[in-house]
Amino acid sequence: MKTWTAIERYQPYAHYSQHLLTKLEKQQQDSIWHLAYHIQPKSGLLNDPNGFSFFNNKWHLFYQSFPYGAVNGLRSWVHLTSTDLTHWKHEKTSLLPDTQYETHGAYSGSALPMGDQLFLMYTGNVRTANWGRHAYQLGAWMDKEGDFYKLPVPLINQPLTNFTQHFRDPKIIHHGNNYFAFLGARRSDDTGHVLVYKAPKVTGPWSYVDELHFGSSSLGYMIECPNLVFINQHPVFIFCPQGLSKQKLSYENIYPNTYIVGDSFNWDTLTIVNPSSLHNFDSGFDLYATQAFNTANGETYAIGWAGLPETKYPSDQENWQGSLSLVRKLSLQGTHLIQSPITTDLIDTSFDPINESLDLQEKVSFSFKNFPNGKLILQADHSDNRLTIFFDSTNATVKVDRDKFGKKIGSKFGTTRTVKLTSKTKLDFTLYLDKSIFELYLNGGSTALTGRYFPDQADTYHLDTSHLKSQKFDVQGWRLKSI
Ligand code: FRU
Repeated sequence: MKTWTAIERYQPYAHYSQHLLTKLEKQQQDSIWHLAYHIQPKSGLLNDPNGFSFFNNKWHLFYQSFPYGAVNGLRSWVHLTSTDLTHWKHEKTSLLPDTQYETHGAYSGSALPMGDQLFLMYTGNVRTANWGRHAYQLGAWMDKEGDFYKLPVPLINQPLTNFTQHFRDPKIIHHGNNYFAFLGARRSDDTGHVLVYKAPKVTGPWSYVDELHFGSSSLGYMIECPNLVFINQHPVFIFCPQGLSKQKLSYENIYPNTYIVGDSFNWDTLTIVNPSSLHNFDSGFDLYATQAFNTANGETYAIGWAGLPETKYPSDQENWQGSLSLVRKLSLQGTHLIQSPITTDLIDTSFDPINESLDLQEKVSFSFKNFPNGKLILQADHSDNRLTIFFDSTNATVKVDRDKFGKKIGSKFGTTRTVKLTSKTKLDFTLYLDKSIFELYLNGGSTALTGRYFPDQADTYHLDTSHLKSQKFDVQGWRLKSI
């Protein structure tokens, strides 16, 4: 595989040829790991979802992209639109890192519809000659045609004095007569915080108000990708604390994606009132940088990056990496999120998942009257590739094992993920399979587990239920469309 110099990774896109891009796009299209109905990069690397919003009668979504390889290079925002949150179309224009305030990347941010324009607030990443970092918070308008107009100067020029330049990922919210921006930050003492800025207009002036108070004075050494959304008036704070102590939350991925639910939100003191304990947003192998937003009528939608920072993936060999999860509609049950993927428009035909073979483009739902014991195996027909799901009724646990499912991914962080469920009695789950990603939703979406896998070869599969120790279950299957 190519070794990249820092100069190559950060040179302007104009240095790359159209010929190279066409070649990379073909490589992605031809991959056996090319996804059928999940958002994936046309070429190169995809990471965080950005600017998720509803504007001009369409859903808008962007993703962090380096189009020229599976490495951390110069980031832009690639633009997608949809009318059903399922079928996504790549739009013609990307938000490019083309000003002096984003020479080393247009980093993550959010969007707010305002009349006939969409306002984008995001982080401009600049490296100095000796590779020092500078973070600017930038603004841009997008019109109905999808053209961008950047504000000439940054909205926020620098972090507070006792904070480092790890200051990014603004989540913009309109409340009352003001606009608020929630920003992830790393203080000079290496603690993670969320800083809140306020402005009378989105274009500024923006001034610092206070930290977000969410029950801990800080978490980890850095907080990335903060989101504050409201479900039935309850604040839900979804974020990524890096370097989080495992005493505070049990997690196995390099960095967790977490959430906290509160009783209410005090906008005067920026406090999540009566915050819940910290929960994992997804208990699987690969989900990070989730972005959530509220629609004008109060619904909440989220989508995450099915990938992790600082992690190599087998598709790197083919010069592409990353995908997004399905869009999930969020609701609350007490202080727990219920995640319901939006998939109605994906359903093609129903099939019998026990007697017919699978192409890894299916939805399969199981429902057990009693919590099962044993295991369910998704077994390849012509190799030993398999995904195994273990059930233990004594402990009410479900364990997903991807160890044998093709190429190794991040094995240093373990090849299984286990969740403990609150109910020991019944169990139902829905498994979405899409070529090189699974999403498993347990008990109506009260727990979600997402993971990538990279089979050794294109193959057909079958579900082996023979190790389920003769428990009664109902099962249904659907073949899913390609988008
Ligand atoms: C999270 C992140 C963000 C940053 C972006 C850069 O994955 O590190 O904090 O804005 O990725 O691509």
